[in-house]
Formats: sequence, structure tokens, C-alpha cells
Amino acid sequence: FPQERIRNFSIIAHVDHGKSTLADRLLEATGAVSEREMREQFLDKLDLERERGITIKAQAVRLYYRAKDGELYQLNLIDTPGHVDFSYEVSRALSACEGALLVVDASQGVEAQTLANVYLALENDLEIIPVLNKIDLPQADPERVRREIEEILGLEASEAILASAKLGIGTEEILEAIVKKIPPPRGERQAPLRALIFDSWYDPYLGVVVLIRVVEGKIHVGQRIRLLSTGKTYEVTKVGVFTPHPTSVDVLYAGEVGFFAAGIKEVRETRIGDTVTEAEARVEPLPGFREIKPMVFAGIFPVISDDYEDLREAIEKLWLNDPAFSYEPETSAALGFGFRCGFQGLLHMEIVQERLEREFGLNLITTAPSVRYRIELTGGREIEIENPAEWPDPGKILRVKEPYIRAEIYTPKEYIGPILTLCEEKRGIQKEIRYLTPERVLIVYELPFAEVVLDFFDRLKSVSRGYASLDYQFLDYRPGDLVKMDILINKQPVDALSVIVHREKAYYRGRELVSRLKEVIPRQLFEVVIQAAIGSKIVARERIPPLRKDVLAKCYGGDVTRKKKLLEKQKEGKKRMKALGQVEIPQEAFLAVLKI
Ligand code: GTP
Repeated sequence: FPQERIRNFSIIAHVDHGKSTLADRLLEATGAVSEREMREQFLDKLDLERERGITIKAQAVRLYYRAKDGELYQLNLIDTPGHVDFSYEVSRALSACEGALLVVDASQGVEAQTLANVYLALENDLEIIPVLNKIDLPQADPERVRREIEEILGLEASEAILASAKLGIGTEEILEAIVKKIPPPRGERQAPLRALIFDSWYDPYLGVVVLIRVVEGKIHVGQRIRLLSTGKTYEVTKVGVFTPHPTSVDVLYAGEVGFFAAGIKEVRETRIGDTVTEAEARVEPLPGFREIKPMVFAGIFPVISDDYEDLREAIEKLWLNDPAFSYEPETSAALGFGFRCGFQGLLHMEIVQERLEREFGLNLITTAPSVRYRIELTGGREIEIENPAEWPDPGKILRVKEPYIRAEIYTPKEYIGPILTLCEEKRGIQKEIRYLTPERVLIVYELPFAEVVLDFFDRLKSVSRGYASLDYQFLDYRPGDLVKMDILINKQPVDALSVIVHREKAYYRGRELVSRLKEVIPRQLFEVVIQAAIGSKIVARERIPPLRKDVLAKCYGGDVTRKKKLLEKQKEGKKRMKALGQVEIPQEAFLAVLKI
């Protein structure tokens, strides 16, 4: 296909501004999917994505479009996620593009991830085409949002396209703009192959499937290729594109996006950001991606200890698909063998747990998330800790340092008050309050990341009725007065329930946590005493009285359906329970600290 008629582009947007819906319209308009096949959010391939209505993984689809100039164009659409936890996926996808559609909800305006994504697009030198979506909504105000794009983002928006992805308004205009404004890819077709890996996953039939952007040269079936980071060579067995169905092609040329398989079996061999070349060629690696460091850590354990090996395999496979996630083996006195895993944030953590359970049929317990602390020990050594169970003896601690982030919050001006109160409560340091427009305000705070992990995002949404949005970057480590709080169940400390807390809040947190645990741990045949302790000092205590009678005794009168329901409910509750000694502890108990 002639290179000057290829366009590689992405759609970037804040969560829920309509990116996936617009992608659906583009698929339809170009005839890539028939009406019969069309279901909502076609590109959200993972079941989980469709259910939650969010995009997690980037997708690449090839479309053909006959433009008004009469020529046929090849459009490669790379769909990206919008949530802050997945911004590394966005940045990878953008490096495979020359342009981006910037979708902004005309009833909402510019949000935190709109801005973050525009920065990523500018870093990659992309041509940005603003699209004002949802103009069908009565509260849509395209003129105001157009001004916001110019004033806040500094982009020219006089030609912003008015669209309703829901009703299909503006689709044609968008396709024309892609063809006219986005430059074609560059890159020598005659040069030795250099392709950038920007996603890869495991397929039971093909082995490892690798999504690439060919930067120079070409890739075809039968070619011997080499991965630069490992030096290993393979023979290409399949080359293809998603249209959106996987379709074989003979060859992918410089400037094109597609996938290949080469009988790669080992999970760890293809790394996202690596360069693919010809077996014999000597080439420089392409600039890869910055390494992504996990920010939040938690233990993942199988409910049934025998599932450990299956969990290990599942985690390795998932890791290949998601390099923002890290893992290493962990042993807990309470939970047995499992893994300490690192995530970008809480949503990422939930998604990983759900994917492991659904895609690999596992039943898992996740422990409370923690950030990574740096601890200076007496004697001068400094250690890093991401698991409260490894907290050193307080006598050996000189100083504890915790990670801080710079949080940028975008909000309509009505919610400034409650947002400031929330940030202060979270030990934040105010840096800036700036009116971006007469209506919208940017609030900048430096915050201990541990406080943000707990429930900041949910609280921010609730104090602003969903209108405020948040973006953050890691800043540095700062000293904090932190202590470890242990939870004892019937006098036995349970390592997997320990949490790190700020000393000033320790009593409050302890009381709240213990009463929460009392709610979620079911009554047993014997009394259960729950205590929170800092060192040897008990700061809170609750008691769960024993079950005296059979649960069914409550259903006097023998109503069968009611009995059945109760038994079902008990079974349901049993699913994610872990026996600690004699006490059955449900998954909710391990995450109780998030609900305080
Ligand atoms: P993520 O994948 O989570 O980043 O979201 P997204 O940006 O892809 O948003 P999505 O396409 O899932 O749309 C979010 C919601 O807005 C859905 O309920 C859509 O039906 C709705 N929506 C999208 N476009 C329009 C539009 O033009 N008008 C109206 N009224 N609703 C729309």
C-alpha cells in the first residue's frame, strides 16, 4: 500500500468522553464491521472491559477509507485507555502514531486526563485534531469547551469538529480531517527491518502474539528475525492486521501497524518497547519506552494453597501482557505462598485480580495495598519496604520516608471548598489554586501517596459530585511519622492484615479498622476477638459473639425457599474465604482498610 496514503492515529480523551463510541462509528463508517456484527464498544475486547465500560488495553485496527479526493486510504486506529492508572498504555500507543483525535465531552469540558493525554501527544510530536463530542446533549456547550481547549491546552480549536459519537454526527468530517491533517508515516522500506513492540500477549494457538509498528524495512512470513534485547532469533510464522478480526497479510512495510507470531513460547522473551530486526542485520535499537515503576503493592494469594503453581503461571502470562505490573514470590504466615505484586494504582490492582480470576479460573485473596517506604536504620543502612509484614523492629528505625505525589485537580469553582478540606485532611501541602477560565479551577497539592491510595479518588468524586478530575505524578520521598499497626485475631497477629499508618491517625484508624473487621468477618462457632496493636500496645478491640444455633433455626416455620436462599448466601460468602487457624476470613477483611 503506498506509504503516502497511510495514516496512523489514536483517539485520546478523558474517561467517558466517548472515545470507544467514536471508534465504533469509525469502524462502521468504513465498513470494517457490518451492522449485524456491530455491538457496542467493539474494540473493548476483554470481557472485563465491556462490563466495566472502560478500555484497559490498547487495540490496533486497520480500516480502509475512500476519501472525497477519490483515493483509498489505509487508516490504522490505535485505541487507548483513559484512566490515570493506564497512562503508560497511552504513551506507548501514541509512539506508533503520527496524529491523534482529541475527544472532549462538550457538556463537561477539559479534564485532568484530557490535559495529561495532550501532553503525551505533544511529546510524541503528534498532529492533534480536536473533536467536541456529545453535542446532542441539551447541556452541551461547544463554544465554552472550544475556548477551554484554546485557553487551557493552548491548541488551535477554531476548526474543532462538532460530533455526536452516539448519533453518528461528524463521523465523515472526522475521517476527512484524519486524511487531510495527519501526515503519512516516514521510514525507508528498503532499509533493514526495525519494528517497535508496543504490545504483546499470549495466544493458546499462536504462542506469543506481538503487536508492532514497523519503522523501517519490512516483515514477512518465513523471515528470520531477532529481538534486540535478548539477541534470540525466530522464524516468522504469521503476519497480520486486525480489521478488526485478525487477518493474515503477506507483509508489513515501514509505516504500518500489525502483529506477527514466530513460535515464541517463553513468556518472558518479548518485552514491550523492544526492537525487532532481521536475524543478520546490525541496527541500532529504536528509542524504547521509559520504564514504568509500580506505585502500589499488595499480596496476591490463592484461596486454595494447591493453586499456587497455577497462580504462578497465570501471573507470568499476565505480566507479559501488562508490563506495568510487577511480581515476586511472597510467603505469609497467615496466607501461605503467594506473590507480592506492584501496580500503577488501585483500579489497576482490581483489574489484575479480576483478570487473574476470570481468565485463569483462580480464586484469590488480595491483601491491603501499600506504597513503598524507605527506612533509615540505625547503623546507616537504608532499606525499601513495600510489605508491612517486613517492617523492621521500631528500635532499629532512625527515620521513615514516604512517597509524595504532585496532584493536579481540575474542578468547577463551586467545589473548591470541599476539595481543599479533603486535601488538608489527607496531609496535603497546598501549592497553587488557579482559575483557568472563569468557571474552572486548577488546584495543585503535594500529597503523601499512601493517603491517595486509600480512598482519595472516591472521596474527590463524592465531594465534587463527580465533576472534579485528578492527575498525578510521583515527586519524591519525604520523612513521615509512620508506624506499623498489627491486627490480632484471637490474640494471634495476622501478618497479612498489618498496615502502615500515620501516628497521629493511628488510634482513629485502629478503631475504624477493627469495627469494620467485626462487620465483615462472619460469626463462627466460638468467640472471635479482634485487636489492633502498635507494638505491644492495644489501641482498639472488638468481639464477635459465637453463633449459638444453626443458622437455619432462624427460619422457623420451614419456609423452603427461604432456607434455600440462606444456604445459597452462605455458599456465596464461602467463595473467597481463607481459614486463618480456625477463623474463616473473607476477602473483604483484607481490604477493610480501604473502606474507612
Ligand atoms: P473509556 O474507554 O473508559 O476511556 O471511556 P470512553 O472515553 O471510551 O467512553 P465511551 O465511548 O465508553 O462513552 C462513555 C459514555 O458516553 C457511554 O455511556 C456512551 O454511550 C456515552 N456517549 C458517547 N458518545 C456520546 C455522544 O455523542 N452523545 C451522548 N449523549 N452520549 C455519548
